[in-house]
This record gives sequence, structure tokens and C-alpha cells, in this order.
Amino acid sequence: MTSDSTSPLRLVVCINERLSTGQRSCVGSGNLDYIAEIKNMIEADNLPIPVIERECLGKCGFGPIMRIAPGGEIFTEVNYDTLEEIISELKRLLLE
Ligand code: FES
Repeated sequence: MTSDSTSPLRLVVCINERLSTGQRSCVGSGNLDYIAEIKNMIEADNLPIPVIERECLGKCGFGPIMRIAPGGEIFTEVNYDTLEEIISELKRLLLE
């Protein structure tokens, strides 16, 4: 249940790739793996949170980047531990 939601909450993830330029990018830093995993986690917990893929969230030097919208926390240097934090924050926000 990651694309059909009645909740205004969503998770925005960066799918920008700059592998040939030598510049840091979220995909170059492994974000596709983290995106796949967090989609699995959202589905496993049956959270009504769509995952929205965007090309660059403007924090390239701190990627991988994920952001809770609207107006939520920006998670930088995402890793597998961060994914648990994101899920916890989404659950907390869903209860508000
Ligand atoms: S490449 Fe992900 S924020 Fe720019």
C-alpha cells in the first residue's frame, strides 16, 4: 500500500544519479537499495504512506536523502539504521 493513500503524509526519496561526473549523488550512494527496503518496510507495516521518487532534493553532498512531506524531517546519509528511524517517525506522525 505505497501508492494509494488517504494520508497527506508521504515519503519523498531522491533517485538522482551522477555516476559519470564524479559528484556525489543519492543513487551513487546506494539509495535505490534503501528505497527498495523502505518500500518493503512500509508495506510490511501496512502504512498508508506513498513513496514519491524525485530527481534531487538539493542535499546531494549529504545523500542518500529521504524526506517526510509535507514539512517533515529530512534524513541525510540514509542507511539501514536510518530506515528504522524513518518508519518510527512515520508511525508517530500518523498518530497525530
Ligand atoms: S542527488 Fe540526492 S539530493 Fe541531490
